[in-house]
Amino acid sequence: MKELKHKIFQTISEVADQMQTETYVIGGFVRDIYLNRPSKDIDIVTIGSGIELATQVSKQLRPTPKVNVFKNFGTAMLKFKDMEIEFVGARKESYQRNSRKPIVEDGTLEDDQNRRDFTINALALSLNQHNFGELLDPFNGLDDLQNKTIKTPLDPDITFSDDPLRIMRAIRFATQLNFEIEEQTYKAIARNRERIKIVSGERIIDELNKIMMADKPSKGFKLLEETGLLRIIFPELQAMKGVDVVNGIGHKDNFYHTLEVLDRIVPNTDNLWLRWSALLHDIAKPATKKFVEGQGWTFYAHNFIGVKMIPKIFRRMKLPLNEKMKYVQKMVQLHMRPIVLSEEIVTDSAVRRLLFEAGDDIDDLMTLCEADITSKNADKVKRYMKNFRLVREKLKEIEEKDAVRNFQPPVDGELIMKTYNLAPCREVGLIKDAIKDAILDGDIHNNYEEAYAFMLKKAEELGLKKAN
Ligand code: CTP
Repeated sequence: MKELKHKIFQTISEVADQMQTETYVIGGFVRDIYLNRPSKDIDIVTIGSGIELATQVSKQLRPTPKVNVFKNFGTAMLKFKDMEIEFVGARKESYQRNSRKPIVEDGTLEDDQNRRDFTINALALSLNQHNFGELLDPFNGLDDLQNKTIKTPLDPDITFSDDPLRIMRAIRFATQLNFEIEEQTYKAIARNRERIKIVSGERIIDELNKIMMADKPSKGFKLLEETGLLRIIFPELQAMKGVDVVNGIGHKDNFYHTLEVLDRIVPNTDNLWLRWSALLHDIAKPATKKFVEGQGWTFYAHNFIGVKMIPKIFRRMKLPLNEKMKYVQKMVQLHMRPIVLSEEIVTDSAVRRLLFEAGDDIDDLMTLCEADITSKNADKVKRYMKNFRLVREKLKEIEEKDAVRNFQPPVDGELIMKTYNLAPCREVGLIKDAIKDAILDGDIHNNYEEAYAFMLKKAEELGLKKAN
């Protein structure tokens, strides 16, 4: 097996033989060999002391890596080249009902494999010389890899109850690998879903972000919804599901629309936050939904209400409250603008304003808007896409001509105050805004001379006198 040819495995093998301890590489690394997904995270399990093995292995390596020991967990980790190798003694674990912290005892390889989450994650390859590379697969994990199945090695109620994070992991692996969850395992997810409440928000969001970064995130969100987990971990998204009908008129199901937008944006971006923007762009539709006689269903200001909902969602879900969140808010706020723009005659000034507000994120915004066109009407889609192409061309043209992206007005408040001997006041704001509007509307060009002349004119209108 070529993956075990690496020097590190030879070294571990020699040391294990010297120490006369059975030693295996186990878990995700082995799974990924069979999936052809090379991995740099290596888990070593030994029937003995993991810390002792790690210490001896490090002594054989050049340069000698530092061994990080986690005494409480009985594990040790070292980094060698670009690999991270974790050593642990085989163990038997039992769990307490209200905690993810196990009581640990020494065990056999089989005990260790028993306590793992899924059959595909319980594969082990022997590293001792006499059976180097032999596969130990007591739960037919290799078959499950081939049948693309996520299944627990033990009774799923035990495996999930032992560590409820595995409920999320099952759905995450099914999404990432495009596997199906075996029936009994699936039923146990639904049965044990309330247990997710003892898992920290940080762990849950890690899994959710992995689902977001998969090739088809909708698969994971549908599983979360169908098993009843979504209602617990993401009620705002759950609220998007369903269709109301008044006078025989229904609106589209915003949950499935959102998932379609998310899947559609995937090939065009690896940016997690643009994907989050796609997931949240219509999040305020349930809150703003209203049936208006003669008009049908309306979602008035759902973009602005969405912006307001985001900090609460980000805080609860342990997502960052920094510029990443601001970016998502900006995308949600502006997500309808290019469509509106493309429905009207695309004027220079409307394009300039959009460029001014979106700044460097304008391309991302266009990508989001293009993904948002999920209509089944081919003519409509064609028309939108053509209009978006026009908007993109116009954006480029205006940007080259006027450089309004991230623009700072050439005459600022400081200069206005100095020229008219003013303290900060309403008039300064009025003049500043008037200059900005004049540039964005194309009345004057974006340069100092024209902006200065415009300031003089505006100040005169306001009856201001120049300082001497
Ligand atoms: N494991 C488990 N239960 C968990 C987490 C991990 O049984 N809640 C076991 C699995 O055998 C898993 C191994 O520990 O293969 C390593 O876990 P981790 O590094 O978190 O995941 P990987 O399976 O390696 O996958 P990924 O790197 O994609 O997270």
